[in-house]
Amino acid sequence: MMARITASVYTSHVPAIGAALDLGKSGDDYWKPLFAGYEPSKAWFKENTPDVIFLVYNDHATAFSLDMIPTFAIGCAAEYKPADEGWGPRPVPTVKGHAELASHIAQSVIQDDFDLTIVNRMDVDHGFTVPLSLICGQVAEWPCPVIPFAVNVVQYPVPSGRRCFNLGRAIRKAVSLYDEPLKVQIWGTGGMSHQLQGPRAGLINREWDNRFLDRLIAEPEKLADTPHLEYVQQAGSEGIELVMWLIARGAMSDLPPRVAHRFYHVPASNTAVGHLILENSQ
Ligand code: DHB
Ligand code: FE
Repeated sequence: MMARITASVYTSHVPAIGAALDLGKSGDDYWKPLFAGYEPSKAWFKENTPDVIFLVYNDHATAFSLDMIPTFAIGCAAEYKPADEGWGPRPVPTVKGHAELASHIAQSVIQDDFDLTIVNRMDVDHGFTVPLSLICGQVAEWPCPVIPFAVNVVQYPVPSGRRCFNLGRAIRKAVSLYDEPLKVQIWGTGGMSHQLQGPRAGLINREWDNRFLDRLIAEPEKLADTPHLEYVQQAGSEGIELVMWLIARGAMSDLPPRVAHRFYHVPASNTAVGHLILENSQ
């Protein structure tokens, strides 16, 4: 039996969500409706804990300074520590990696003509730890190993949605060629509407975000053709983080997925929060 991708999880990774959890504020009026939207996800995850999570996120000039910016970087290390992002590292557990599966995926995907940077030592920021906290809860140890996959969506030129979708296809193939019956989830993080600076700071486009969710479920290949400019104009400059969701979606089966959960909420800090769980039917 080979490894297979069982489901994909998509979620915003707003740092203020991590701070709310860490400071015990998740029951505050402001945060309650947001965390309520992730209760079904936590229950779903308990029932559907995978053997490995492949977590697509972006580093926010934390592990990679502006000195060096890989477009795609795969973590092949044994473990990853939460990064100090200026307020100290989040008080969450160190993440165990899966060096063997990560190295196999690197081998397969690079042979399929995607240039990945191999990372053997790296700290992980809110882009990575906030999704884990939202779905796994506040735990003493993370429930399974996690492979970090960092995408540059900070410094232009950033990869296109089409390339991200096709990279997902290559990751799917790589997983299917791994000779161990592992259940693998792929998570795509970042987004939705957010613009963090300039005169348009705080921009929220509910209609565009929800159409993105509809199309991610129903017509991801067409959605992958969306040009960068549309993300930036419609969802704000940091809305471009959504291309990472197309990597996770590209790694799913070609058959229609089952929607296990869908949630959309405004506001969280200056952003909209979107969340989907899609299961493969086979
Ligand atoms: C913020 C930062 C992020 O990286 C993000 O994805 C959403 C919000 C913020 O600083 O508010
Ligand atoms: Fe971000």
